[in-house]
Amino acid sequence: MARLPFIAGNWKMNKTVGEALDLVRELKGAVSGVKEVEVAVAPPFTSLHAVHKELEGSSIRLAAQNLYWEEKGAFTGEISPLMLKEVGCQYVIIGHSERRQFFGESDETVNRRIKAALAQGLRVIFCVGETLRDREEGKTFPLIEKQMEGGLKGLDGQGMGEMVIAYEPVWAIGTGKTATPEQAEEVHRFIRSKIQKLYSREVTEKIRIQYGGSVTPENIRSLMNQPDVDGALVGGASLKAESFSKIVRFKEM
Ligand code: PGA
Repeated sequence: MARLPFIAGNWKMNKTVGEALDLVRELKGAVSGVKEVEVAVAPPFTSLHAVHKELEGSSIRLAAQNLYWEEKGAFTGEISPLMLKEVGCQYVIIGHSERRQFFGESDETVNRRIKAALAQGLRVIFCVGETLRDREEGKTFPLIEKQMEGGLKGLDGQGMGEMVIAYEPVWAIGTGKTATPEQAEEVHRFIRSKIQKLYSREVTEKIRIQYGGSVTPENIRSLMNQPDVDGALVGGASLKAESFSKIVRFKEM
């Protein structure tokens, strides 16, 4: 079964509303006519509504960078799944390494967030990845396995084929050090085999696994040539329409 490549831009804490609109307007033109690649952007919360309006009629999808698991209430500073749906989000990134590293996210809170997102009909981009230390100590696979078991705890196969897993080695994020296509493929294959153990064959074949970590127009093609790399989660290079659209147009390069 062929999986539709999925390229998503994680803008992190960048762009005011005005800047976000400028970027997305430029991007719409730059990726128009691209077929058979799904494209999403994940602006900060403050720009979601405006970007959604600007994307009307375009095939670019909207993603949020995080959410909280409660529906509403006294949770100062948090955003609920329903709030994201209302402003037009189809996807939400959960468990990004920066959330884990700087904001105390654990496998348990990631799991709660994933469940809340799915319950509200949001599609999840679930991030996993090892640090340089984990890799050097030979702990990459056990760590990824732990993150997957923790993050997916209690989730049956229902709708799991729609989930996206982003493999983002922490040592490659924002460092200019990309995993080699072989290093990426090795972990992607491991993730897919773990999905096979947890879920059905159908889910295993359907689920898309993105690579993230210093993806650029120069390295996207060799990454996408790997059989288990189904797309990319792009940080720095998604902040400019020129570089992001080149990544989206990887087939033409
Ligand atoms: P990067 O970020 O492309 O800037 O390395 C990727 C990510 O954190 O999603």
